[in-house]
Amino acid sequence: MLVVAGARPNFMKVSALWHALSALRHPFAPMLVHTGQHYDYQLSQVFYRDLDLPPADFSLGVGSGSHAEQTARVMIEFERVCLEQSPGLVVVVGDVNSTLACALVAAKLGVPVAHVEAGLRSFDRSMPEEINRVLTDAVARFLFTPSRDAVENLRREGVPDGSIFFVGNVMVDTLLRFRQKAEALAPWREFGFAAGAYGVVTLHRPANVDNQDVLLEILEGLSVIQDQVPLIFPAHPRTAARIRAFGLGPLVARMRNLRVVEPLGYLQFLSVIGHAQFILTDSGGIQEETTMLGVPCLTLRVNTERPVTLTGGTNRLVRTNRQHIIEAVRDLDSAHGCFTDGLPEFWDGRAAERIVSLLAPVFS
Ligand code: UD1
Repeated sequence: MLVVAGARPNFMKVSALWHALSALRHPFAPMLVHTGQHYDYQLSQVFYRDLDLPPADFSLGVGSGSHAEQTARVMIEFERVCLEQSPGLVVVVGDVNSTLACALVAAKLGVPVAHVEAGLRSFDRSMPEEINRVLTDAVARFLFTPSRDAVENLRREGVPDGSIFFVGNVMVDTLLRFRQKAEALAPWREFGFAAGAYGVVTLHRPANVDNQDVLLEILEGLSVIQDQVPLIFPAHPRTAARIRAFGLGPLVARMRNLRVVEPLGYLQFLSVIGHAQFILTDSGGIQEETTMLGVPCLTLRVNTERPVTLTGGTNRLVRTNRQHIIEAVRDLDSAHGCFTDGLPEFWDGRAAERIVSLLAPVFS
């Protein structure tokens, strides 16, 4: 069995599977493949350390590039590994380019594919991740969904019921496993902030950061907010590069209460968001983590593939213009900052265990 990780958000999902596979007596001999889609220490290696993952058995070292270049390089390198190893199953997680690339390779070699986090849909094909989700699900044999809406999405697309398995959310497994360890770190102290008295910002979606006007609107919104509440901003390399390229560095530098830092590791980030007053983000996974932690999440997007975080969580969608962002943060005060109404079904720390139990009889 080959388990694939490519980019930052994959490691938390792979970690849950890895620990479930290690805990049970199972018939697979799992091997970890890191495609190298992310390669900076803070976007990849730090997660091995934080999430107790062993070194990858195969490091494909594909690096950055256009979508076609990156996807193609992963395919070429992963095909070599598949041909050499003849795996009985390839497990892919999430919705990044590596997910689709490895699923396609395996499917064409006749190797069954398991997709963990199947069925999520934003119904927005301008997002590269949406294309990755739809196509990965189309070639997967085992579709493990984190929520019931995902089951319905797959049924609508004609996926047979026998291939769909509602197991819950593996990100949640990892959060529950490592929460206590993260708690001990309290990194906000290093930033000079008090628990519960700061906000966290993350931005990396091309729709937000690759467009100068949109990025400027967001930064102008942050400029007003940081006057009232200090903000920590772990900047993704894509975002840092765009800020420089658009000449927005001076605007950021003028924000005295905006602390721009390197991307944080898993434990540090979990600890930071767990004690934040609110999060402003365009990430997918953070919408789920904040729901688990009961921390208000303002998602700077017009849609989400994770609607349970809106209906049963702490998430709200906020349009990316200055005024909407400022008002969304202001409105949190009157709502006491939390809109949780119970946690989504099966977000209980046992999703990976369910996956392994479902796969074991098929491959024994
Ligand atoms: C990718 C995923 C996205 C995920 C995000 C998490 C796709 C299509 N996108 O987006 O779904 O939410 O990861 O971070 O798969 N770079 C570095 N160091 C690295 C990796 C990237 O400096 O280790 C820089 C490069 O300049 C690169 C840019 O960041 O061109 C973007 O990286 P890329 O992997 O293409 O996309 P992300 O924006 O990270």
